[in-house]
Amino acid sequence: MDKSMMSYFIVLAVLALAPLCFSHKFQGGYLYPQFYDRSCPQVEQIVKSVVAQAVARDRRMAASLLRLHFHDCFVKGCDASLLLESNGNIISEKGSNTNRNSARGFEVIDEIKVAVEQACPHTVSCADILALAARDSTVIAGGPNWQVPLGRRDARGASIQGSNNDIPAPNNTFNTILTKFKRQGLDLVDLVALSGAHTIGNARCVSFRQRLYNQNRNGKPDFTLDRAYAYELRSQCPQSGGDQNLFFLDYATPFNFDNTYYKNILAYKGLLNSDQVLLTKNQESMQLVKQYAENMELFFDHFAKSMVKMGNISPLTGPKGEIRQYCRSINYY
Ligand code: HEM
Repeated sequence: MDKSMMSYFIVLAVLALAPLCFSHKFQGGYLYPQFYDRSCPQVEQIVKSVVAQAVARDRRMAASLLRLHFHDCFVKGCDASLLLESNGNIISEKGSNTNRNSARGFEVIDEIKVAVEQACPHTVSCADILALAARDSTVIAGGPNWQVPLGRRDARGASIQGSNNDIPAPNNTFNTILTKFKRQGLDLVDLVALSGAHTIGNARCVSFRQRLYNQNRNGKPDFTLDRAYAYELRSQCPQSGGDQNLFFLDYATPFNFDNTYYKNILAYKGLLNSDQVLLTKNQESMQLVKQYAENMELFFDHFAKSMVKMGNISPLTGPKGEIRQYCRSINYY
C-alpha cells in the first residue's frame, strides 16, 4: 500500500471511530432509560410495585416521594446525597431548614432498595431509585408517564449548606426562586411546570403562616390570598402554635395529579407564597399558569419534560460515586 492510500485509510478509521470516542456514552457521562436492561431488567417493576403498596397504605406518600427526588437533585445533583444519615464527616441533609420535620418517605426508599438488592445485588443506585419512585408516584396519582433516564451513581458525601441554600424556600421572592432554578440549568417554563407538583401533598402551617397574618407588615392577610380562604386557613393555623398542622397544597383535589393547582392560583387560592407569585410577579409565568389551567395535556407534557431535565442535574456516572448497599450510608468496604 502506498503512502497516500495508507493516510486515506487512517482518515477513514478516525472518522468511523470519532462518534464513539466523542459520544457521552463512551465517556460514561449520560443517562439512558435502558441502563439496567441487561443488569437488572426487573428494576422498574420492583420499584413500581413497592411504590404502589406504599401509596395504598398512605395516599400522601406519592407526594412525599416525588418531593424527595427534587430535594435530592437540587443539592449537588441527583446523587442520593439527601438519603445519607449523619455519620463521621457527613452531616445529613435531612436536618436542613427545608427538610427538617418535613421530608418523608425514607422508609419506602429503604424498602425498595432491599427488594432491588435481593433481585440484583450491587447494581442499582439509590439516586436512580429516587428518580423511578418520583415517576411512579406521579403516574399513580393520575399524572403523566415518561421514560426515566438511568445510570446515576450515589454520592459519598452530603451538603447541608447546599440543602439550606439551593432548595427554594416558600417565602423566597419570585426572582430568587427563578435564580435558584437557573443555577441548576432549569428555566422559567421548568419552574412553572414543576411547581405543578404541588397539585398533590401537604404543607405545614409554619410554611405559609406569614401570609395569613402579616405578609406586608400591616397585620392583614396577604392581599393576593383569597379572603375567605385566608380566614379558613387561620382557624387551623394560629398566629402562634400549631406549626406542624397539615394543609393540602391543592385544597380542591389534594390526591389527584391534575391541573387544579393552576386553577387555584388563578382564584388566588395558591397555598404557598411561592405558588401565588407565579401569577402575580412575572408576565411570562402568568401566561403559563393560565395555559396550564386551561390545558392539562400541555401541563402534563411540560411536567414530564421538566422532570427529565431535573433528573439530569449533575449525575455521577462512570467511575464517579458508587452503588450504595444501604441508601442511608456510604459503603465502607
Ligand atoms: C418552586 C419552588 C418550590 C418551593 C418554594 C417549594 C416549597 C415547598 C414547601 C414549603 C412544601 C411544604 C413543606 C412543609 O411544610 O413540610 C412543599 C411540599 C411539596 N413540594 Fe415543593 N416547593 C417547590 C418546588 C417543588 C418541586 C419542583 C417539586 C417536585 C417536582 C415539589 C414537590 C412538592 C411536593 C410533592 C410536596 C408535598 C410533599 C408531601 O406532602 O410530603 N416542590 N414544597
